[in-house]
Amino acid sequence: MKEKLEALKIEALAKLQDVSNPQELNDLRVKYLGKKGELTEVLRGMGGLSAEERPIIGQVANLVRSAIEEIVEAKQEAFVQQETLNRLQAEKVDVTLPGRRLAQGGIHPLSRVVQEIEDIFIGMGYRVAEGPEVETDYYNFEALNLPKNHPARDMQDSFYLTDDLLMRTQTSPVQVRTMQAMKGEAPVKIICPGKVFRRDDDDATHSFQFHQIEGLVIGRDIRMSDLKGTLQQFVQEMFGANTDIRLRPSFFPFTEPSVEVDVSCFKCGGNGCRLCKQTGWLEILGAGMVHPNVLEMGGYDPAEYSGFAFGMGVERIAMLKYGIDDIRHFYSNDMSFVKQFRGV
Ligand code: PHE
Repeated sequence: MKEKLEALKIEALAKLQDVSNPQELNDLRVKYLGKKGELTEVLRGMGGLSAEERPIIGQVANLVRSAIEEIVEAKQEAFVQQETLNRLQAEKVDVTLPGRRLAQGGIHPLSRVVQEIEDIFIGMGYRVAEGPEVETDYYNFEALNLPKNHPARDMQDSFYLTDDLLMRTQTSPVQVRTMQAMKGEAPVKIICPGKVFRRDDDDATHSFQFHQIEGLVIGRDIRMSDLKGTLQQFVQEMFGANTDIRLRPSFFPFTEPSVEVDVSCFKCGGNGCRLCKQTGWLEILGAGMVHPNVLEMGGYDPAEYSGFAFGMGVERIAMLKYGIDDIRHFYSNDMSFVKQFRGV
């Protein structure tokens, strides 16, 4: 019996030594140590042994059992360790690899120009006002001294939604909305950036939708010279200290007198170049003294108050400033266009 046990031990240890996976190990454990295992089988035969032999064989059997158990445990431990190692290997992260770059957005050139203009006017004590893009006929035209059927309405072809509602064709309606909201209080000093819409066919310089910035100042003794000085200050901050302006007579129904405002060409300094079409001047905005009718409809007595207003096209200014030759670039969502303005 002793020999049987020894043989069993040698066989078990040899087989266990060679196991290659946990499943095999478990099978061997059951085969030798299980309730119906071979060792148990041998020990069952101990009943037939003499009283002297029994403790001796018992001892041998225990030694065989613990020898097998020991190697089973060692192997089990080795498999666990191997598994941990494998997992670590599989989940390995090389922290020295360069990171994946997140695509970084940039501020759209139109937003840049709007922010820049806002900053300049906020620096002069203006506040930013807003108004709706869907506007009533009253605010877009009538309250701006453009009664129904007035021929000057043709200057701005409109998208009407109903008889009374349209997409605003200009930011000027915010003038009237602001005056009414101020309830006759003065001074009023606002600028209003926003989208406007006109029934234009799109081409390199026209778009059915574009942006304007409106300015309005109302107070006592506001004069044409205040308008000129304000715009002079604005263009110098916007285009450079040497920039000059000139006012040309013009017509807008809501201002009297009205002017078109040119800036000296900031590219050639006024000598004449392609940008200014050899004239030395660039037309950038419309302006004038607020018409008495408009003051009245806004709730200000024209005998007591006066004011000036101006309106400029954001796209046009951005195109001049950055040398962009087609207004459609602004809306084409072409990343290579927008990316150029990331660090401007
Ligand atoms: N609203 C005018 C336009 O869109 C511009 C303007 C604004 C002119 C304010 C004078 C005063 O053409």
